Amino acid sequence: MSNYHIKHLEEYYQVYRKSVQNPEVFWEEIAEEHFMWRKKWDNVLSWDFTKPEVKWFEGAKLNITENCIDRHLHIRGDKTAIIFEPNNPEEEAQHISYHELHEKVCRFANVLKEQGIQKGDRVCIYLPMIPELAISVLACARIGAIHSVVFAGFSSTALATRINDATCKMVITSDGSYRGAKTIDLKGIVDEALTDCPCVESVLVAKRINTDIHMEQGRDHWLQPLLDEAYIDCVPEIMNAEDPLFILYTSGSTGKPKGMVHTTGGYMVYTAYTFKNVFQYKEEDVYWCTADIGWITGHSYIVYGPLCNGATTVMFEGVPSYPDFGRFWEIVEKHKVNQFYTAPTAIRALAKEGVEHLEKHDLSSIKVLGTVGEPINEEAWHWYDDNVGKRKAPIVDTWWQTETGGMMITPIPYATPTKPTYATLPFIGIQPALMDENGKEIKGNQVDGRLCIKFPWPSMARTIWGNHQRYKDTYFSAYENKYFTGDGALRDEVGYYRITGRVDDVIIVSGHNLGTAPIEDAINEHPAVAESAIVGFPHDVKGNALYGYVTLKETGEGRNHDNLRKEINQIITEQIGPIAKLDKIQFTSGLPKTRSGKIMRRILRKIAGKDTSNLGDTSTLLNPEVVQDIMDNAL
Ligand code: PRX
Repeated sequence: MSNYHIKHLEEYYQVYRKSVQNPEVFWEEIAEEHFMWRKKWDNVLSWDFTKPEVKWFEGAKLNITENCIDRHLHIRGDKTAIIFEPNNPEEEAQHISYHELHEKVCRFANVLKEQGIQKGDRVCIYLPMIPELAISVLACARIGAIHSVVFAGFSSTALATRINDATCKMVITSDGSYRGAKTIDLKGIVDEALTDCPCVESVLVAKRINTDIHMEQGRDHWLQPLLDEAYIDCVPEIMNAEDPLFILYTSGSTGKPKGMVHTTGGYMVYTAYTFKNVFQYKEEDVYWCTADIGWITGHSYIVYGPLCNGATTVMFEGVPSYPDFGRFWEIVEKHKVNQFYTAPTAIRALAKEGVEHLEKHDLSSIKVLGTVGEPINEEAWHWYDDNVGKRKAPIVDTWWQTETGGMMITPIPYATPTKPTYATLPFIGIQPALMDENGKEIKGNQVDGRLCIKFPWPSMARTIWGNHQRYKDTYFSAYENKYFTGDGALRDEVGYYRITGRVDDVIIVSGHNLGTAPIEDAINEHPAVAESAIVGFPHDVKGNALYGYVTLKETGEGRNHDNLRKEINQIITEQIGPIAKLDKIQFTSGLPKTRSGKIMRRILRKIAGKDTSNLGDTSTLLNPEVVQDIMDNAL
């Protein structure tokens, strides 16, 4: 039996037991047998959740790109590593072999070096889903620079905040991007952001849409001519297992976004191991994850996990609705995709369009279906199972987070019997706990509580960039000696987990995490706004949509509400991005507050969700009269 590839349920239980009874022996064996190290570790694991400090494979030396690329060259050098499927179906797909990927990454890495980027420097990558995105990520890793990918849907303000937080020396972008029938002026957004980023010394610009753009003399460089001149090989920088590999920002319930720091050795081992098992990847398979590399799903399961396994991974530039809602299925048929991984919001949007788009395409290649990003509702689960998987391809509902680096609770397909809406069992090595309000662990089955993890796993984030205290406060202070996820979960009679959703002020809209505080801050910048509060409410495609309660200043009263709504959403788009726009905005005479001045969001959530039969205890409210007023005028 190989501990690396689990095929049956009994095997899962056996390996799981090993992994929790003796984690160090277990992970040492996985790391030793399946990866390429320049030097082995002195110590498999040291940890202390009170500091918090976690180190995996300390003393080991490696370069992750040698694991993702070089070691495959002699066995599968001509195999396709990346299939690039462009936004426009008329444009030809590109197949990049492992040999070609090696050359492209090396050339790019040499360009970075020539531009003065060194080990430990931060490089911001703001690119659409084109091959240069994956290649630049790997090029950074090749030379030990820390990449910070910012999703190319974020606004210039959001981009500037992230660039400055990590003091990035360089930005890699493109002249623009395609998104369905639209083009987006990415370089213009970068230019605007950089008016406020003194740390940035240079900008590399990939050509994608061939528009005439402004190039700042001395700062901006077209990428292609530099690549053409660069040498085709680049000796990898040898990194310590605990050296940072990347920073990736995620929203918190308060304050600015958190730059989660992932390190090299443990992240590599865990993402590769989960990829192999959760997708049951086999050598000839074609794997497609529809996420953007701007999110953790793309980092771990488009780039690092698949490439570490020598897989063929699809990168899709476009959107599910262009040129029509059959696009995903057309791509599955065209590239004979075997594993398909997407988000519930995409499934719901496609389900809404009916099955005629599906019926036009041959989906028989599909062996495993995945979902991630938010709880999947029962209806969407069944639609996916019935129509896409034809009840033959198991659904892996994978629960995890930017912070966890890899999948945490998930079925292993063909081994774990699935159950709609359940992420099922903890993955190998993962020790979940459900906690009650008093900080005690709830044992046994058929219980629910707050989801924590009791023991370190190799791919956990090690800190928040520049703010270790915040890392401690956010994840390790709610419950003693445990990592707190921010999610609620229940455990059924056989020990399966179902994630019930966030228990903090993070709202997941179309699979994107949004903190309420930054959105409220943006709204409050409108000169007519006195105060605001954001809550989520159920939405049949997005999962949740945003509902804003806004109190106006005297100067704002009497102004046209529709115009105000447009202006408020405009500010949000500028400050954060279109993903954070509000679906509903209600103008209120006040917000329900406790005597200590805290907004009682629980009530606002109920009103937004049209669930006002029982508002719960309102006795601590300072201004109970506003509740009736808000209910009377609810949208
Ligand atoms: O609330 C959980 C939800 O998404 C959050 C993490 O979001 P993010 O860091 O953006 O990473 C998303 C991709 C890994 C979690 O705290 N979530 C993620 N996957 C699931 C989920 N909720 C329910 N079921 C899932 N499968």
